[in-house]
Amino acid sequence: LVTPVILSGGSGSRLWPLSRAMHPKQFLPLAGDLTMIQETAQRVVAPRFAPPLIICNEEHRFLVAEQLRAKAIQPTEIILEPTGRNTAPAACVAALKLLEADGAPLMLVMPSDHVIAAPDRFLKAVETATAAARAGALVTFGITPDRAEAGYGYIKAGSPFRDGEGLRGVECFVEKPDRATAEAYLADDSYFWNSGIFLFSAAAYLAELERANPAMVEACRRALSGAERDLTFCRLAKDAFVASPSDSIDYAVMEKTARAAMVPVDMGWNDVGAWSALWDIGAKDANGNVVHGDVVLHDARNVYVRSEDHLVAVTGLENVVVVATDDAILVTDYSHVQDVRQVVERLKADG
Ligand code: GDD
Ligand code: MG
Repeated sequence: LVTPVILSGGSGSRLWPLSRAMHPKQFLPLAGDLTMIQETAQRVVAPRFAPPLIICNEEHRFLVAEQLRAKAIQPTEIILEPTGRNTAPAACVAALKLLEADGAPLMLVMPSDHVIAAPDRFLKAVETATAAARAGALVTFGITPDRAEAGYGYIKAGSPFRDGEGLRGVECFVEKPDRATAEAYLADDSYFWNSGIFLFSAAAYLAELERANPAMVEACRRALSGAERDLTFCRLAKDAFVASPSDSIDYAVMEKTARAAMVPVDMGWNDVGAWSALWDIGAKDANGNVVHGDVVLHDARNVYVRSEDHLVAVTGLENVVVVATDDAILVTDYSHVQDVRQVVERLKADG
């Protein structure tokens, strides 16, 4: 069985004002009735998968426990980080945890906040990746780019991977290239988006991380052996975990390993990073508008308007985003949706 490892440490700051530090985007129902983390957990259930292991910030422990319980999802474990150290230590702790039990556990590492419109294709791709992962490969899932997106990592696919049917080798990883480079990749069909989803054995991941960053593995080992456990949570030892270097799986392992492979998959993937993504995946009216809540439009085109409490009217505008919650309003256009992160930084700095 494969154990889903769900990473839930992000803050979703570009989706402010809906996504908040205490209630980030993975806990919001952004693309349907379920919240993103519920959707993620429900994609990978028995009999093909073991119960999921969730790793999140301790501030969000009740949100995670509640949202899983609401969907009758019984996790293997909810591991709590005292503070975020990015994805490599999170996956490391998960690997160490899974190795406490017998066997040769395979882990499917997944962000908690992505949309996958065709989950059956995703499951098929996981199946395709399984034999290679068992044999020690670190498998990623590559998405064919449909635009020059500088916010993603790219994978340059190589020749077919050994005997693994449907798998490609990986020539290199390029994390978040600049715009011009992303444009060039779009025109070259050997480049794929890195979905940030990985399938590997816990042992293979640890072995590669140990080579690249032994201090990280050591810190995670101590954080886990000093963890406090109760019925619901496994709380990592704070001092040990905080001492871990901070790095992503991509930089710490995938860029360096010789064991990387990739499954190309077309599954309606979207990482819902910014408001423009919600327009992309939203149901549009005849003028290309997407609205949620109490909204009146007149003479508007390709707008995304979301209101939680107030009546919001928009007239005579194109390509804008308007999001109103009970205590904040955001107005921006699609070319500036990435800058919402800077707005949030500024708000934090101003207290
Ligand atoms: N538990 C835990 N702890 N989870 C974390 C942490 C952490 O410290 N940091 C991030 N995560 C979770 C986030 O919640 C998210 O679900 C996932 O890990 C990825 O982190 P992001 O911070 O969103 O990464 P990114 O968007 O900059 O880049 C990654 O994802 C892209 C696709 O969405 C990279 O893998 C890129 O290469 C990739 O294209
Ligand atoms: Mg992301």
